[in-house]
Amino acid sequence: MAVHESHRWRIGEPPPPIRAHSLVKHKALGEYLRRYVAALTQDPRVDKLTLTIIDGFAGGNVYTDAKSGDQRPGSPSIILDALKAARTEAQSRRTKPFVLDDYYIFVEKDTEAFHFLRETISTSEHGKRIGDTIQLVQGDFCDHVGKIIEFVRARAGGEHAILIMDQCGYSQVPFMSISSIFGSLKKAEVILTFAVGFLIDFLGVKYANGPAIRRVGLDIDMLTNIDKTDKNWKLRIQIDLRRDLEEKTGAPFSTPFFIRSKDSNRDLWLVHLSKHYKARDVMMEIHWENTNSFAHYGRPGLNMLGFDPDKALFESSQIWLPGFYFDDTAKDLAFDAILQELPKYMTDSKRDMVNVHTLLAEISNDTPATAAHIWEVCRQLAAEGEIEIRDKTGHTLRKRGPRSDSDVVYKARQMRLFKFGR
Ligand SMILES: C[S@@+](CC[C@H](N)C(=O)[O-])C[C@H]1O[C@@H](n2cnc3c(N)ncnc32)[C@H](O)[C@@H]1O
Repeated sequence: MAVHESHRWRIGEPPPPIRAHSLVKHKALGEYLRRYVAALTQDPRVDKLTLTIIDGFAGGNVYTDAKSGDQRPGSPSIILDALKAARTEAQSRRTKPFVLDDYYIFVEKDTEAFHFLRETISTSEHGKRIGDTIQLVQGDFCDHVGKIIEFVRARAGGEHAILIMDQCGYSQVPFMSISSIFGSLKKAEVILTFAVGFLIDFLGVKYANGPAIRRVGLDIDMLTNIDKTDKNWKLRIQIDLRRDLEEKTGAPFSTPFFIRSKDSNRDLWLVHLSKHYKARDVMMEIHWENTNSFAHYGRPGLNMLGFDPDKALFESSQIWLPGFYFDDTAKDLAFDAILQELPKYMTDSKRDMVNVHTLLAEISNDTPATAAHIWEVCRQLAAEGEIEIRDKTGHTLRKRGPRSDSDVVYKARQMRLFKFGR
């Protein structure tokens, strides 16, 4: 697939122009990394975090702002600066020294882009780390993924790793590579981009890119059923491609939302894959903080992509216009929907009680809401007498909603028995 102008670095020429969706992507990436470190270092007793960040499609690390002519950083610099800020933040919450044992691997295939990458990092404040805790690798990410996994596994102090796979289109990241990452590294997360508009266009040209897609492991037959003239094609991507991705990569948690773009050919699907609902929740918070930058085309409550995809497609075209853009309207929609659906979920699951941790692990992958939103709904349901929330001992009533993951939510009927028995 041809490299787009916005990702072509040529020696002797100015860096490529930065596109609006790259700015959103970079902002989300930087914020995610800061929050990730904050979440893992929340407990002030944690005095060290070992972390490896791999940018598998690093690019030339510099762009031109078409309006001002100024230079803008690429993902490697965004990553290094975000982690520097995260280290300072973690230290500021402690009196004892905090160690961020951070290591970076930046992989770039294209010779000229790699030249820009090396130049920009060498001349930055991080330059002295090259060859020590920053490795610059010129080559194909897929050829290096095995060695990268081994390297992370061998690092003393843990397997915390974030792999960023910001491919140019849709065909450079085989699902097998992601599944070997999740199969080998307990604490890995993957941030993956997909140019889905291009993908569907290519498929429209009678499997023109069939071999490339097969290599990636995408389900071509499923994808060829997606028609970009259908107004629900982005929801189909969320439903079908996400299912395919989760099954083939072995990542149980994912955020399958789009970076908004006026140009449908530039629709960028930003997927965060992880093994834990808390990691997913951190990424969900980034979506809500960047109001109007992301879009979801499914339902607003639980079961966001529907039990029955066809029904979800119908419902989404009926109700969620003009769209779910992680703004106040979206928040109200999500809150109202979960308020109605959560008691039913409890009833359907045939349980009288469930602790908050288990509940969130069960429902959070299928909602565009954050854990904080769900806690807010629990507070409201408790106020309305639909549920009762207590601490894990059962002795303390949480009138203002859950305070900890170990708190327990009781269904109304069980709640009455509970009171009666005391
Ligand atoms: C979308 S750009 C990356 C942009 C960069 N992540 C950023 O946000 O600033 C994708 C880059 O991946 C490189 N690339 C393409 N296929 C690759 C592969 N198989 N392995 C490593 N790099 C590759 C391209 O040369 C291009 O520079």
